[in-house]
Amino acid sequence: MLMVPNSDLLREKAYIGGRWVNAISGNQFDVVDPATGDHLATVPDMGEEDTLLAITHASEALNGWNNKTSKERAGLLKAWHHLILERKSDLARLLTAEQGKPLAEAEGEIAYGAAYIEWFAEEARRIYGDVIPSPSSDRRLLTIKQAIGVVGIITPWNFPNAMITRKLAPALAAGCTVIVKPSEETPISALALAALAEEAGIPEGVINVLTTTNAAAIGGVLTQHDDVRKLSFTGSTQVGRMLMRDCASTVKKVSLELGGNAPFIVFDDADLDTAVAGAIASKYRNAGQTCVCANRILVQAGIHDAFVAKFASAVSELRTGNGFSRETTIGPLINDNAKRKVASLVRQAVRQGADLLVGGAFDENNPACFEPTILTDVTASMSIASEEIFGPVAPIFRFNTEDEAISLANDTPFGLAAYFYTQDIGRAWRVSEALEYGMVGLNEGILSTETAPFGGIKQSGIGREGSRYGIEDYVELKYLCMGGLNASS
Ligand code: SIN
Repeated sequence: MLMVPNSDLLREKAYIGGRWVNAISGNQFDVVDPATGDHLATVPDMGEEDTLLAITHASEALNGWNNKTSKERAGLLKAWHHLILERKSDLARLLTAEQGKPLAEAEGEIAYGAAYIEWFAEEARRIYGDVIPSPSSDRRLLTIKQAIGVVGIITPWNFPNAMITRKLAPALAAGCTVIVKPSEETPISALALAALAEEAGIPEGVINVLTTTNAAAIGGVLTQHDDVRKLSFTGSTQVGRMLMRDCASTVKKVSLELGGNAPFIVFDDADLDTAVAGAIASKYRNAGQTCVCANRILVQAGIHDAFVAKFASAVSELRTGNGFSRETTIGPLINDNAKRKVASLVRQAVRQGADLLVGGAFDENNPACFEPTILTDVTASMSIASEEIFGPVAPIFRFNTEDEAISLANDTPFGLAAYFYTQDIGRAWRVSEALEYGMVGLNEGILSTETAPFGGIKQSGIGREGSRYGIEDYVELKYLCMGGLNASS
C-alpha cells in the first residue's frame, strides 16, 4: 500500500552533479515497505566509481557555492525549506512507506527536518570571526571562519529525512558541498529531498546522493579520499569507530552521532503523571528506534509500584500496526535483524530473572510489529541493561538512593541522552551536573529541537548538530596576522 499522491518525488535514480543517474555498473536494488514487505522502488546500487564521480562534481561545485554570499546561500536554503513544507504530506507518505513510522510521526519528522534548514539558513548569515586585541602596535590579529570543503554524509534509516537535513543544512550554510549516502533501507526520502533541492535552485554538484547496499565501498572512498575534508555520520558506535579509524589516514575531521543507552530516572518526588507521559513519549517514539529513546527506566522504591501501574495502563492504549492506519502508534521494526535482536533481548532478560509484565511478542495481525513491552525487576547484570534495545521494550529497574541512581545511570560507555524526574530544585541541579551525558531532559521525555545542540559524550560521539554550535562542525577557523602597519611608505 504505497499512498503517494504526487509520485514525482518518488525517484528511482541517484543524484550526481545535478543529473539523475543509474549506477555506472548498472546494478540496482529494491526498497521495500517494512510493514508489508511490498516492493516500493528500485534504485541504483552504487559503488566506488560512482563515489569518485560524485567527489569530482562536489569538488568542482565548491568554489561557486562557497563564493556565493551567505545571503544568497540562505535564500536558496529558504526556498528549499519552503518547498519541503509545501510537499510535507507527500514526503511523509514516502517516509512512512519506506520506514514504517506512523504517518503523524512522519509528518512531525518532515517539519522537524525542515526546521534545521530554516535554522541554518538564518545561521548562514552569522558565521562571525573575531578581532583579537593585538600584543603589538604594528599588528592586527583576526580570525575568520571558512567552509571546510567537500563533506561526506552517512545517515541512518530511523529518521530518513531529519538526519539528512540536520547535517546538510549547516554544511550548505557554511559553504560546503556534500555527498550523501542514505541508509539502504530508506533511500527514497533522501532522493525526494534532492529533488526538492534541485527545484529550489541549489546548483548542480552542491548536493549529491548515492544509493547503495554496499556501504563499505562508498564509506571506504569517502573516508580515504583527500578531497573529502570531513565526514559526518549518524549510526552505531561500532561503525562510527571504523569510520573514524579510516578517516585517520587523511586526518579528516569527523562528526559522529552514535549509539546511546539512555537512563530515564524517576525519583520519589516526581510528578507521577508527567513522568509516565514522558516515559511513553521517550520510550515508544518511532517504535523505540531512536538513539535517544529511554533504554533503562530507573524508578525509586517509594514510587516504583505506582509508576509501574500507571505506565502499564498507558502502554495498554498504544496500538501496533501499519503506519498508514490512523490508529497506529507503534509501527513495524525496520527489518528481520531488528526483529531478531529485540525478541532475543526480551527472551534473555526473562531467562535472567526479569518479569514480563506487558507484551513480549510480535503482533499476530502485523508480524513486523513488536508489542509494546514492559519488563520489571531488571538488574544491571542482565544483557538488556547494556545493549541499545532499538525496539518498544521498557526495562524497569528499582533503586533506593540518589547516589545509586546516578551510579547506575553512568555505568555505561555511552553518553548521549539522559532523563530524570524530580520536583526538588537542589536535586535537579545535582543530578543534571552528575549525569555523564551530552543531553539531559529534566521533567521532559523529548528534548530534540533544531535550536539546541544535539550530541553525545564518551562513546556516543563527537560534535554537535543543530543550534548555534552546529555550524562549527562545518567551518575551519583561520587566524590572520596582519603586520607592518606602522611602516609608512
Ligand atoms: C536519533 O535517534 O539519532 C535522533 C533522534 C532525534 O533527533 O530526536
